[in-house]
Amino acid sequence: MIKRKNILKIAIDSPAAAGAGTLARSISKHYNLFYLDTGKIYRFIAYLKIKYPKKFNYKFVKEKIKSLKIPDLLNKSLLTEEVGNEASVIAKIKKIRIMVHSFQLKFAYNPPKNYNGSCLDGRDITYNIVPDADIKLFITANVKTRALRRFKEYKDLGKKITFDEVVKSIKKRDKSDYNRKISPLKKTKDSLLINTTNLNKRACFLKIKKIIDRKTKT
Ligand code: C5P
Repeated sequence: MIKRKNILKIAIDSPAAAGAGTLARSISKHYNLFYLDTGKIYRFIAYLKIKYPKKFNYKFVKEKIKSLKIPDLLNKSLLTEEVGNEASVIAKIKKIRIMVHSFQLKFAYNPPKNYNGSCLDGRDITYNIVPDADIKLFITANVKTRALRRFKEYKDLGKKITFDEVVKSIKKRDKSDYNRKISPLKKTKDSLLINTTNLNKRACFLKIKKIIDRKTKT
């Protein structure tokens, strides 16, 4: 694998709806980093399973991953609760994780030339995908806050779902992501904990910017 030298690599892990995506996007923009929301890859596979239940097997997934392009991950159909839940189910399969692994490495270590580095967020980025990242963050918030944020996103998308349903779903997803045997969500010792419960987007951004500036200037 080609590895670009002297690039800035940021690795972020977080439970569902903790605000990691929003933060990762603003940080990536500020430092001109290539951003990859790795949850979208699992969502993409989950979507294939829902859309093509009969065709769905490892060979089919492998072919689809081979031709997977970044714009495919921006598809709005990947944003439903159903796809998210199915993603956390297929994410427990070792064979699937292995297929997704190299796709992620390519962008983490060899981002397009016009970028100064990469920023990946997910569940196992800090210890499995980019263990040598320059900055590692674990972003979290309490369940109620996360559910409220997700509920607002769904409302904006015009989705019919109640707040209680969102709470239930987030709890279920936490349980599954933290407790699974393969690549569970966890905070590594060398990751900085950022709790966004009482911080707005701007405050979170500034907090992380300070950390990155301090680290990259020494
Ligand atoms: O982040 P998002 O909610 O889109 O991720 C959907 C699901 O994909 C997660 O609940 C998790 O089970 C799985 N996932 C994972 N490893 C990653 C990113 C996501 O297992 N790096």
